[in-house]
Amino acid sequence: MRPTQVQKHELPHRSRIYSDLSGFYDHVFTHVFSRRIERVVQGLKIPPGARVLEVGIGTGLSLDAYPAHARVTGIDLSQEMLDRADSKRDPKRHAHIKLRQMDGLDMDFPADYFDFVTAFHVVTVVPQPAKLIEEMTRVCKPDGQVVIINHFSSPRPAIRKVVNLVDPITRKLGWSTKLSLDDCINGAPLSLENRYKTSPWSLFTVVEARK
Ligand SMILES: C[S@@+](CC[C@H](N)C(=O)[O-])C[C@H]1O[C@@H](n2cnc3c(N)ncnc32)[C@H](O)[C@@H]1O
Repeated sequence: MRPTQVQKHELPHRSRIYSDLSGFYDHVFTHVFSRRIERVVQGLKIPPGARVLEVGIGTGLSLDAYPAHARVTGIDLSQEMLDRADSKRDPKRHAHIKLRQMDGLDMDFPADYFDFVTAFHVVTVVPQPAKLIEEMTRVCKPDGQVVIINHFSSPRPAIRKVVNLVDPITRKLGWSTKLSLDDCINGAPLSLENRYKTSPWSLFTVVEARK
């Protein structure tokens, strides 16, 4: 595998934000995101020995969610986010989890390698969401699962209109509210198996798709 070392000044805008805010991230998002991530990962019933890739693992809010019998790799473009994840890693409890700096848009893994490829709150943060899902699909084994938690634009026009009003603000914070799931999946060879919200008022959708 070729080494991937991205210099801080080269990071695209959207990841720079996370690098700059890595110290602040957990204070804001631990309570908002952790429980949902845990619920979704537990629902996958990951079998012993399964290879799991999490793209954009950030500060490691998911570290406790993955079963110890899985072999998990977490990647992120931001070294600062990964450093925070690493500082939370317990050598015994998280021995099954490796962290690497890597661009999810151009991953350094062979095709058809992982049984599960996950991305939580990442897809609309990257500049090319469809390319990210294409790349996640590439490294996923045939019959493996691609699992995403993300905000996607609502199919209901009234809700879409209201949410789109805040898009110029959220873009400054690094993500878009305007993308639909179809925009993102855009021809990737995946069959959608499950699409749900963990609560009726949640802004986030859970998507489970099979390659
Ligand atoms: C909103 S945070 C989500 C972090 C974590 N998944 C969570 O749920 O708390 C988005 C993460 O995506 C990472 N990211 C942005 N662009 C990326 C890319 N091209 N490849 C890998 N990670 C990326 C950011 O550095 C950041 O850690």
